Amino acid sequence: MRVAPDALNSAARELTVNPTVAESLRVAARTLAGHSDSPRLDAELLLCQVLNLPRSGLIVHGTDPLSAASRAAYDNLLAQRLQGEPIAYLTGTREFWSLALTVTRDVLVPRPETELLVEQALARLSPDRAHTVLDLGTGSGAIALALAAERPLARIVGVDVSAPALAVAQHNARKLELTQIDWRLGSWFDAVPGERFDLIVSNPPYVAAADPALRRLSAEPLLALAPGPTGLEALSAIVARAAEHLHPHGWLLLEHGNAQAPDVTRLLEQHGFGHVRSYPDYAGQPRVTLGAVESTHSRSSASHSSASHSSASHSSASRSSDSHLPRFRSLSSHSLRLHSSHQEIT
Ligand SMILES: C[S@@+](CC[C@H](N)C(=O)[O-])C[C@H]1O[C@@H](n2cnc3c(N)ncnc32)[C@H](O)[C@@H]1O
Repeated sequence: MRVAPDALNSAARELTVNPTVAESLRVAARTLAGHSDSPRLDAELLLCQVLNLPRSGLIVHGTDPLSAASRAAYDNLLAQRLQGEPIAYLTGTREFWSLALTVTRDVLVPRPETELLVEQALARLSPDRAHTVLDLGTGSGAIALALAAERPLARIVGVDVSAPALAVAQHNARKLELTQIDWRLGSWFDAVPGERFDLIVSNPPYVAAADPALRRLSAEPLLALAPGPTGLEALSAIVARAAEHLHPHGWLLLEHGNAQAPDVTRLLEQHGFGHVRSYPDYAGQPRVTLGAVESTHSRSSASHSSASHSSASHSSASRSSDSHLPRFRSLSSHSLRLHSSHQEIT
């Protein structure tokens, strides 16, 4: 167990001998202020974890005293949070695209920004066709599972080079009863030799090895964050081999850092992709770049043609890769859909 930081010791002094649930929450939220973007929410989620209650239960039980054992367990979680442990690892769960995903230290905590990638993929996958989809670097399975939930007919392959990460993805699939995903262990396209897909999606590691942001992300697996010195190594490797794994007119969709849209655009164009566009996240930063393989770059039967090439807005703004920092605000899929630019589907 970690030693409680000073902030926690002074918070303990504020509490009465037998603090109530409401009082404990108030002091915990004040203790976490300055250490978290969402101190009250964090305090509530951690107390829910200790008491095994939904958030509404904290109101119902607000005047109940906290037992000594619960208080000790709560202090332990608060101490870890104060030391930078992501809330998702402490509660063991993270909501993504309205799915409650199990997360462990073996996987990246899914980010709200990645819902943009899901949104753009869905816009290119018809609900009434059995599209084939590849999710490279699936981690907790967040992207593959969101697509499976929205497109039950799709046949999805989720790949990761980390066996422990893949075990988390498989656990999530079982828990959510989303069974149409084939999970494969391996490095990028090595896991799908000779196979082609209608759409390939990836949120690969893209933070440069020397980026100071990595220090603040030290609880998460380095393998999920930093691919090498430039941060472009995984994106380059995926773009270089994607066309040989896509059907004619198939799409490649990539999440990347804020400053990487020009590099990813150049990579896609160098490898013969057309309809290359970048899309901004809800902070206005370009975080997803995509392109479609031209039929001359694929040797597969044209009868497997996937989604259409629709028009959409193009953004080329950029900023540093610190957007990988944990953000505990989750955009609802409803609001994302409201903001979605309409795309034609074939
Ligand atoms: C940024 S995380 C994305 C996880 C998940 N898709 C998400 O969006 O939350 C990148 C993932 O790529 C995986 N990865 C790293 N190198 C890989 C490789 N060579 N082949 C396959 N997966 C790899 C990591 O293990 C990690 O799960």
